[in-house]
Amino acid sequence: MIPFNHLGMVFNTFGSLVYPKSVRKSLCNFLTPLKTQSKVLDIGAGTGMLCKFGYACREDLAYVAVDPAEGMMKYAKAYVETHRASAEVLPFDADSFDATMMGESLHHFRNVDEALKETVRVLKDGGRLFIYDFDVASFMGKSICKGEMLLGEPGNFFTPKALQAKLESYGFSVDIEIHGWRYTVEAILEK
Ligand SMILES: C[S@@+](CC[C@H](N)C(=O)[O-])C[C@H]1O[C@@H](n2cnc3c(N)ncnc32)[C@H](O)[C@@H]1O
Repeated sequence: MIPFNHLGMVFNTFGSLVYPKSVRKSLCNFLTPLKTQSKVLDIGAGTGMLCKFGYACREDLAYVAVDPAEGMMKYAKAYVETHRASAEVLPFDADSFDATMMGESLHHFRNVDEALKETVRVLKDGGRLFIYDFDVASFMGKSICKGEMLLGEPGNFFTPKALQAKLESYGFSVDIEIHGWRYTVEAILEK
């Protein structure tokens, strides 16, 4: 397993390098329709990188982060409310978030279906989901997947098409943007 709990400083220093400008722009576009003080949950937030990028374009949203690794979350900015928890068991009431985000974290979840069920539970009807991940059909995606699995990670990587089909089965309508070997998902939930 990757020892995320001891890698906070590394991710805090270098983590932004895996986010190309185009991905940050997609995140800002994703947040644009939200009303002031909307609640946004970053799942597998690590050091709160997505909250930081989000805050750069929408300071007026309420950012909440969950991650099992406190050693990562201790680097989150003061405007982020942090909770030590896993995606598969979210410590929040049903219908409590306007948006959720997963930044290169979905492929680390042990049980993607449980995580998506929880995401659907905590999202409001019409709630939004943003995902940033690596396309497992690409050379880079495949290599990262193999490398992570050698380290004992679950390697739950998807092609954009496969993830779209999965999200649709949970009631999301899905838009995918391709960024070379990476992709972003913008999805809207109909409950
Ligand atoms: C590659 S890091 C990405 C962190 C952050 N989202 C970013 O973009 O910098 C993956 C994160 O997923 C977290 N993680 C692993 N398993 C998880 C789970 N079951 N539920 C939620 N987060 C998990 C790890 O602790 C780690 O912080």
